[in-house]
Amino acid sequence: MTTFDFSTAPDRAGSDSIKWRRYAGRDVIPMWVADMDFAAPPAVLEALHARIDHGVFGYADAWPSLLEAVIEGIARDHAWRIQPDWLVWLPGVVTGFNVAVRAVGQPGDGVFTSTPVYPPFLHAPANFEQRLVTTPLVLHGQRWEWDWNATEAALAENVRLFMLCNPHNPVGRVFDRDELTRIAELAERHDLVICSDEIHCGLVLDPATPHIPIAALDEAVARRSITLMAPSKTWNIPALYCAFAIIPDAALRARYKRAMAGIVPHVNVLGQTATEIAYRDCGPWRQALLDTLRSNAARVVEAINAIPGLSTVPVEATYLAWIDCREFIAARGIANASAFFEAAGVGMSDGKDFGLPGFVRLNFGCPATRLEQALERLRRAVVS
Ligand SMILES: Cc1ncc(COP(=O)(O)O)c(C=O)c1O
Repeated sequence: MTTFDFSTAPDRAGSDSIKWRRYAGRDVIPMWVADMDFAAPPAVLEALHARIDHGVFGYADAWPSLLEAVIEGIARDHAWRIQPDWLVWLPGVVTGFNVAVRAVGQPGDGVFTSTPVYPPFLHAPANFEQRLVTTPLVLHGQRWEWDWNATEAALAENVRLFMLCNPHNPVGRVFDRDELTRIAELAERHDLVICSDEIHCGLVLDPATPHIPIAALDEAVARRSITLMAPSKTWNIPALYCAFAIIPDAALRARYKRAMAGIVPHVNVLGQTATEIAYRDCGPWRQALLDTLRSNAARVVEAINAIPGLSTVPVEATYLAWIDCREFIAARGIANASAFFEAAGVGMSDGKDFGLPGFVRLNFGCPATRLEQALERLRRAVVS
C-alpha cells in the first residue's frame, strides 16, 4: 500500500502563496486563508505533468472520463447518483454562489444565510442589489446549531434564496439528516431555492457524521437546489480553479446558465485534468490526509481549551477551528484578537469578517510540528 507523508510540507515562504506572502519577512506562522500547506496528491501531479507535456492548450470541454470520475466519485463518497446533464462547470465556488444569487433573485429580494459564515456569502447579495438576511447559529454544549424560530422569521422577509454552507466554514458542522430535512421543509414552505456550498464535503473527519448532500434527501428538494462542489479543498488544488454546480431541475439550470452568459469563462483544462484524477484515484490520499487532520483537530481542541479565556469545540469536518477569544480579550482589554495573536506570531482569520467578532479561525492544514509551534505561541501570548 502506498503511504503518503503529511509530516513535512514544501517551503512556501517566498512563493506565490497569498497565505504566506502576507507575512513575508516576519516571524508569523500563516494559519489564515483556507488552503493547506501539503503538496497535492502524487497522482494529480503526474497527470498535470503529462497534460503539460502534451503541449497544446486549446479550448476544452468536459470529456467522458472526467464526467464519469466525478459522477462515480459522488455516488461512492456521498451516496448521491447524479446525471451528467445536471453538471454546470465553473471556475470556482464563489463564482457559483454569486451566479446563484443573480439567477434566483431580483434587486431588493432577500438572500438568507446563517452566521458566522465564509465572508463571500455575506457580500454576494449586495453584488446584485439584493438584501442579506441572517440569523446566528447558536452554540449548544459542544455543537453549533440552528435557531429554527429565528430562521423561520427571517425567511419571511421576502427571501428567495437560502444559502447553505455544509460542511460549515467556519464552525465545522456537518449538518445531519434532521437539520437538512428542516431546512428543506422551510424551503418548501417559503418557496425558496437552496444554494448549498458543499466544497468541504470530502473533509469529513468524524465517521459518525457522514456528509449528506441536501439535494440527495428527495426529489422535491433536488428540484429547488443548486449544489456546489469542487476538488479544491479536499485535494488542495484551489488555485487550479475548477468547480461545478449540480442542478437537477432543467428550468432552474437554464436560469443559472443564463445568469452566467458572457461573464463566466470556461474552466481551466489543468483544473479539469486534476479533477478527474482526484475523484477517481485519490481516495487513499484523502483517507491518509483525514488521519492527519483528525489528529491535528484533536490537538487544537486539547491545546486551545487548556489556555485560559480561549475555547473551541471539536469540528466534524474541515481543517478549520473556530476559536472563541471573547473572555480573554474582555479580561485583558484587547480590541482585536486576531491582531493580538498576529503580533504574537500566529496569523489567523478575524471572526469579524465572518460576522462574529471576538472569534478567530485557525487553519490546521499543516504538518503537526508547525501546528505545535503555533499552539505554543498562542499559549505563551496568553499566559505570559
Ligand atoms: C465555504 C467555501 N466556499 C467557497 C470557497 C472558495 O471557493 P473557490 O476558491 O472555488 O471560489 C471556500 C474557500 O475557503 C469556502 O470555504
